[in-house]
Amino acid sequence: MFETKIYKNRRNTLKKSLNSGLVLLLGNEESSMNYADNCYRFRQDSTFLYYIGLNKSRLAAIIDVDEDKEFLFGDDPTIDQIVWTGKVPSLQELTKQAGMDGCRPYEGIRAYFDQHAKDRKIHYLPPYRPGHTLKLQEWLGLAPEEIAAGKSVELIKGIVEQRNVKSEQELARIEEAVNMSGQMHLEAIRATRPGMKEYEVMSRVHQKALELGGRLAFPIILTKHGETLHNHSYDNTIEEGDMVLCDAGAEHPDGYAGDLTRTFPAGRHFNDLQRTAYNIVLEAQIAAVDILKPGVRFLDVHLAACKKLVEGLKHLNLMKGNPAEAVQAGAHAMYFQCGLGHLMGLDVHDMENLGEEYVGYTGDLAKSKQFGLKSLRLGRKVEPGFVVTVEPGLYFIPELIDYWGGQKKHEAFINYDKLEEFRDFGGIRIEDDYIVTEGGCRLLGNPIPKKSSEIEELRRKALEESTDE
Ligand code: GLY
Ligand code: MN
Repeated sequence: MFETKIYKNRRNTLKKSLNSGLVLLLGNEESSMNYADNCYRFRQDSTFLYYIGLNKSRLAAIIDVDEDKEFLFGDDPTIDQIVWTGKVPSLQELTKQAGMDGCRPYEGIRAYFDQHAKDRKIHYLPPYRPGHTLKLQEWLGLAPEEIAAGKSVELIKGIVEQRNVKSEQELARIEEAVNMSGQMHLEAIRATRPGMKEYEVMSRVHQKALELGGRLAFPIILTKHGETLHNHSYDNTIEEGDMVLCDAGAEHPDGYAGDLTRTFPAGRHFNDLQRTAYNIVLEAQIAAVDILKPGVRFLDVHLAACKKLVEGLKHLNLMKGNPAEAVQAGAHAMYFQCGLGHLMGLDVHDMENLGEEYVGYTGDLAKSKQFGLKSLRLGRKVEPGFVVTVEPGLYFIPELIDYWGGQKKHEAFINYDKLEEFRDFGGIRIEDDYIVTEGGCRLLGNPIPKKSSEIEELRRKALEESTDE
């Protein structure tokens, strides 16, 4: 948690961005896996963490914009709970830590609204947990279908404006998370041996995050089938000749995320084709980072990276025709089906729960519906202080090859005969995190190997060490 005054300042800025009304910020509750007392790891709601700072379950905050009053709702632990959980701060202590005006029992929220909300605007965020939907129904007397429609766009916009620009203190946490993430990747590249199961390497990556005092910012992707964008199965045996894609990031104890991806050979070297494809992805990342600066739309950065990918794919005879026209038609999405990156902060996809139309896009820039572009989470202009990932890739998805191939889709740009040779090629992604600065952007965290020659050197050393043992 930061100093109390940081949270007070953040709330004051939020209050100024709203005309009037009551703001409800809902903290998260424990979430059960298979019976009530066996819970997933607790994760506080990121907006609650940003404005209140308290990483405890079953809390809520009500901010009265007109009266300039802030209340924390929660409950002191009973002696029965303390027996199981140990001593925890009282509600009074938590209220003081957060710098709020007072506190009330959690069950008092309904009564508070009954008393204070008549004819007033209640600002709340779109819920992403069913439990929150139920609470909003009960407290605000709304029908389920009214909840989404009733969200406060004014509140969302105020929050997005604040959370988008990272302070020095936030940036320091993010860099720590990125550095932990870098260590996780070095561990993956060093630990992998042909013959291992993916889960064996994945467990080492997870262990590294824990060992460094972090957690996972999202479930690890560690797979020889990198063509599946969010592959969360780990059962394959890694074999000589495979490429391994690791997309993993640590979460700092204060909640901030890192998110990196490296792709490396299971053996000492990439084969020639793998290395060529790897270098195409790297060139696309370099081209994107070159133009990433304030005032540039991330959409245009994405499109520039796509064009670079197509130019490389033409050299491999996988694409043909004019690269700019191919990208405009969406033909590159045979190989790059997702977006170039996303905002990152307290969430790995920062503020995605608030709605992409407010976070990644603006009133005058709506998200495209085109296959590929529709998965670009961030399109708007970036500004100094924004933290983004840049993660181009090439993905050879057999099902998509067959699906588009059957329709001869984008035949003017895609060389389907050649593509047949790549059905089992897999996928490559390279991902790093950047802060947009006044003059451009800066890599976050200590650089970890990225050039194909650097990755191969790490693999050579790792495999030699295992021969020496
Ligand atoms: N690292 C996972 C993602 O960006 O979706
Ligand atoms: Mn990412």
